[in-house]
Amino acid sequence: MNQRKISASMMCSNLVDLAKTIDIFQQKKIERLHIDVMDGAFVPNFGLGVDYIRGLRDLTDIPLDIHLMITDPEYKLQHIGIKETDIVSVHYESTYQVQRVLDRLRSYGCKCFLAINPATPIYVLEEVLDYLDGINLLMVNPGFAGQKIVPSTLKKAEKLQNFLREHNKEDIALEVDGNITPENAAKLKMCGANIFVAGTSSIFRGTVDDYAANIDVLRAAIK
Ligand code: DX5
Ligand code: ZN
Repeated sequence: MNQRKISASMMCSNLVDLAKTIDIFQQKKIERLHIDVMDGAFVPNFGLGVDYIRGLRDLTDIPLDIHLMITDPEYKLQHIGIKETDIVSVHYESTYQVQRVLDRLRSYGCKCFLAINPATPIYVLEEVLDYLDGINLLMVNPGFAGQKIVPSTLKKAEKLQNFLREHNKEDIALEVDGNITPENAAKLKMCGANIFVAGTSSIFRGTVDDYAANIDVLRAAIK
C-alpha cells in the first residue's frame, strides 16, 4: 500500500506568507504541493498559472501535484513546464480525446493521473486504467476552495476501491480533492485514499502560525 501523503493546496495559501508557508511545509515534510491550474472555462474560476509554477520551483524542491482544470489539455501540455517529478492530473470531462491526452502526458515521464468530477461514473476509467499512475477523485465540483463535500462521493470512493481491486489495479494511487477535513480524511483512508489534498478544510485554517499544528492534526487522521 502506498504511504499516505499530504498534498497542500496552494490556491489556499496567501502570497504574503508564501515563503514562510513553504518553510513550514519543508520542516513538516509535506510530500506534495497541489497546484490548481484553472482557465475560467473548464471551471468558473481562474487559478495558478505557468508563471506561478515556475516561481514555486525556484522557491522549493517539494514535488508538485498539478491539477489541470483546463479545456482541451492535450493541446496545452507543452506550455505547463511539466517535470518528471510531477504528478499531473487531467480531467476526464475536459477533452473528447482522453486516451490521446494520457498518452501525451506519459511522454513527459511524470506521474499520470485522471481526475473525475463527482457526477462522473467510475466505469469511464475502464478503458484507460493501463495509462494511469493515479486517480484524482473530486469530492466537490472543482474550481473553488471552501466548498462542502458532495455526499455521494464518500460512497463513490468505496466503489472505486472495489473497482480497482476487481481490475487488479490496486497499485493505482487514489488522490482525494475537495473539503478534506481530518474527519473526511479518516473516512477516505478506509477507502484506500493515499494522497490527501489539504486546503482550507485542514492546513489553511487560521493564520500561517497555525499551519504546523493543523498539519499534525491531519497527519494523525490519516495515520
Ligand atoms: C478544489 C481544489 C482543492 C481544494 C481546496 O477545486 O482543487 O484545492 O478544494 O481545499 P478545500 O476544499 O479544503 O478548501
Ligand atoms: Zn485540485
